Amino acid sequence: MDSFSTVIRTASHEQHVEAETSTFMSDLLGGRLGVAAYARYTEQLWFVYEALEAGTERLAADPVAGPFIRPELFRLAALERDLAHLRGPDWRAGVSALPATREYAERVRECAESWPAGYVAHHYTRYLGDLSGGQIIRDRAERTWGFAKKGDGVRFYVFEGIGNPAAFKREYRELLDGFAADELEKQRVVAECRRAFALNTAVFGALGEEFPLSA
Ligand code: HEM
Repeated sequence: MDSFSTVIRTASHEQHVEAETSTFMSDLLGGRLGVAAYARYTEQLWFVYEALEAGTERLAADPVAGPFIRPELFRLAALERDLAHLRGPDWRAGVSALPATREYAERVRECAESWPAGYVAHHYTRYLGDLSGGQIIRDRAERTWGFAKKGDGVRFYVFEGIGNPAAFKREYRELLDGFAADELEKQRVVAECRRAFALNTAVFGALGEEFPLSA
């Protein structure tokens, strides 16, 4: 039988391709969008990570989600520095969540508050992605909009506390493999992971509409 980390990865593979090749992501990675689109995307991430990281103190004590809560993953402070750079010191007054982002953040919050195993699906979908494809996005952002390498504007993608991302991801997958849940619950977590990808893709869709290339 496949390990849980393999099951969850395989189950979301198709949606990963869909997210990766969405119009907005392709345009962003292709250097075809202005920095305003990147800033708007970063702003959406802020709402998502606020939901992901708001309940971590409580979740850290949870037997299922607890082992996944690692402070070196926390992104909120980095996002806030990036937004201050992108939007200026008053950035808070100007941020707004797209409806798709609000829906995503609400679902994360719901899981964080009442279903720790489901929260793990969201945790996996974001953080393991940030440690992987996020590095490609950072490289493109630095080149396209001239941010200092690993500096303000792209700090979200820089995990200062993780010296060896490949080793970290290996350990993370081991944690998934030891996931303390029965088969049925694992299936529900896999379904939640697919939902997490769909929520991300919906945010990309909304961003794509806000920043159409051919307008
Ligand atoms: C243009 C955008 C993206 C690129 C280029 C990209 C690229 C990659 C690459 C190369 C890996 C493999 C890393 C490895 O095997 O160690 C990966 C893994 C992953 N990505 Fe992405 N990705 C992108 C977008 C996303 C998005 C939007 C999400 C979800 C929000 C996501 C979630 C994940 C996850 C969860 C993994 C870990 C898979 C696993 O090993 O279990 N990625 N990505």
